[in-house]
Amino acid sequence: MLFTTATLAGFAALAPSAFALDNGVGRLPSNCVMIVAWNAFVCNIDDTIILETASLMQSLGLQDAGYTQMNLDDCWGEKNRSADGVLQANAERFPSGFINLTSQLHDMGFKAGIYSDSGWRTCQDYPGSYSNELLDAETFQDWGFDYLKYDNCYIPFDDIIREGTLGRFQRMADAIANLSSTSGQPPLIYSLCEWGWSQVWLWGASMANSWRVDNDIAANWDSIAAIINLASFIPQATNFYGRNDMDILEVGNGDLTYEENKSHFTAWALFKSPLLIGTNLSAVSSEIVDVLSNPEILAINQDPVVGTSISPFRWGLNPDWTSNSSFPAQYWSGPSQNGPCSCWSLNTLSEPADMFFNLTESPWIRAGRSYSVRDLWTHSDNGTAIRNFTAEVVPAHGVVALLLQDAGDEPDGIDPLCAVYCQCGTENGSYVYGGCTTEY
Ligand code: GLA
Repeated sequence: MLFTTATLAGFAALAPSAFALDNGVGRLPSNCVMIVAWNAFVCNIDDTIILETASLMQSLGLQDAGYTQMNLDDCWGEKNRSADGVLQANAERFPSGFINLTSQLHDMGFKAGIYSDSGWRTCQDYPGSYSNELLDAETFQDWGFDYLKYDNCYIPFDDIIREGTLGRFQRMADAIANLSSTSGQPPLIYSLCEWGWSQVWLWGASMANSWRVDNDIAANWDSIAAIINLASFIPQATNFYGRNDMDILEVGNGDLTYEENKSHFTAWALFKSPLLIGTNLSAVSSEIVDVLSNPEILAINQDPVVGTSISPFRWGLNPDWTSNSSFPAQYWSGPSQNGPCSCWSLNTLSEPADMFFNLTESPWIRAGRSYSVRDLWTHSDNGTAIRNFTAEVVPAHGVVALLLQDAGDEPDGIDPLCAVYCQCGTENGSYVYGGCTTEY
């Protein structure tokens, strides 16, 4: 890929702000991550399931596709700390302990993640880390973990905590930073699970690599559509080192159709969300493995040059900026290292529909140029787009994901002279096209 000076200047403008946690870990989405507990197994986890899942990650090609981490969620521990106050692996389910488990995962080429809580107890009532932050961060590091998901249950009373939500999560951020400076080891990747209740997208980047934006996902289209709707208003929070976490993927779960699975995965990947597989891989279909391993979609999620999220350029069905949990924004685009533009159109309707957009509705497209169209789901080239693009008969809740690449000047003499012509005029001051109802 050749970059023009203008392109590179554009990317520089997209660099993370000084606000971002540039601490050497988690520059790209903490992907690709396999989360072995919760959506698929809930509390029924043990070392056998985790190691079997790690093997499946390899045999199904998911590790090669880029999923290089195995995460535990809630319920991994004993119900109480040891007599000297240390967290303990559940003796029945993890009889060999975590040092043994993580070293086997590391030998298989995986990193490992663990879960705790910023309150007294975890959401399933195991010990939380409040007031034990440094001790617990040390324990997690000693056990060989590289990543911490940090939840939001059993919050101490106000007269104990004397801090807001930000302060409570900052306690563990400080512990992680202090531990790294004394141990010389890289900081744990820090993933906040605060559910967006305190507008975490405004402050998460100051301390963490990702932050959950909503309540728990469910394996149905209503839940996916609601999270996409929320995400449409906060794409600017995401960049290198820190990003909106749309929650564990439900791809392959519940009653999601094939088209819904593709739309769900496209949205999460192009938002640059962590991609946390939440499917029981011992029962997964090859179709779902193909969705999760789509190399052209994963390449955008893991773009080493552009860290920003995709964002809507037109809501489509609803007026722009409408919040609608069932019918979220439909037309989206973002810059990409191979782009300049990755675009997707989401048919939010429960019936097939044609989807149409003018290219210059996206800010990443240049006027007067033509664009080659790469379809990221059919993995084929789909001709050259001039001025606009129409995707015909997009299935219900289906997606069209495209990579548009500059293909040179558009042909001469196209009428109208400007694709967006309300403010298009001649040098001597007359509008080329009338017809605009807005006074400027
Ligand atoms: C909360 C989180 C979930 C999961 C559970 C575990 O609900 O949001 O992602 O971690 O706790 O108890």
